[in-house]
Amino acid sequence: MNHFLDINRTDAAELRQIIEGARAMKDARNGRPRGMTDDETPLAGHMVALIFEKPSTRTRVSFDVGVRQMGGQTMVLSGADMQLGHGETIADTARVLSRYVDLIMIRTFEEQTLIEMAEHADVPVINGLTNRTHPCQIMADIMTFEEHRGPIAGRKVVWSGDGNNVFNSFAHAAGQFGFDLTFTGPEPLDPERGFLEEARAKGVNVTIERDPHKAVEGADLVVTDTWVSMHDPVSARERRHNQLRGYQVNEDLMARAKPDALFMHCLPAHRDDEATSAVMDGPHSVIFDEAENRLHAQKAIMRWCLGV
Ligand code: CP
Repeated sequence: MNHFLDINRTDAAELRQIIEGARAMKDARNGRPRGMTDDETPLAGHMVALIFEKPSTRTRVSFDVGVRQMGGQTMVLSGADMQLGHGETIADTARVLSRYVDLIMIRTFEEQTLIEMAEHADVPVINGLTNRTHPCQIMADIMTFEEHRGPIAGRKVVWSGDGNNVFNSFAHAAGQFGFDLTFTGPEPLDPERGFLEEARAKGVNVTIERDPHKAVEGADLVVTDTWVSMHDPVSARERRHNQLRGYQVNEDLMARAKPDALFMHCLPAHRDDEATSAVMDGPHSVIFDEAENRLHAQKAIMRWCLGV
């Protein structure tokens, strides 16, 4: 059974196959109305459960639309409204859902919840974000980079800001897709070393550079994310803003990257905190292509999971 739990848990050749599938499905839609099904409807007769224990706009809508475009049906479930949020075990929830649906996508807090869901489900499980990783986002980001600039292998990606779950999936992707990755941010917000070491073990150059201006030299892609993630305490806001202010992606920082460097942000953004509106709406930015490509990448992931 093909669970899509993390980029480092999926074979590199299969990741490439997913990206190519996403590209082909996007091309095949060829401007048709968003609500119209694809010519091929490989999810016809399939029911997909979309479980959210955290808020979402892009993940919720893109998975829901993607399933419908492929001819399937969805049920969107809030973790708080399920017995899962009132003491039923993850294992029992997984066993029960497996009697009703063909595929489960879950956005949750703890990685362990995702792992247990996958261990006990008889149907594929997709990671729609945990506190540790966000693999669907990064698959869309790889697709987006390659649409604009060709193969990402051998390129330099720079992450500026908090070493969070989205960064962690970039580190997984660096190893699997073969690009170099630089983290620039304050030491207290460094990513877990294990993510960096795992990528290095796959032969890519992964560095930490405290000076954001030095970090972005030669960058093909500059990425940032919100300074306070969904799982961070609200009380941390002021401290984090003070720590991260020097890592804002603004026009001055982008000017030090390669002239044709792209800018990405997975959204939602706090405009003029982690990135200025001038950058977000400027010529380097591909943030809305990233958001669109969530749809296409996840359609390919679901087909891979189901083998259809
Ligand atoms: N980028 C992302 O996952 O967006 P949502 O939180 O809106 O799903």
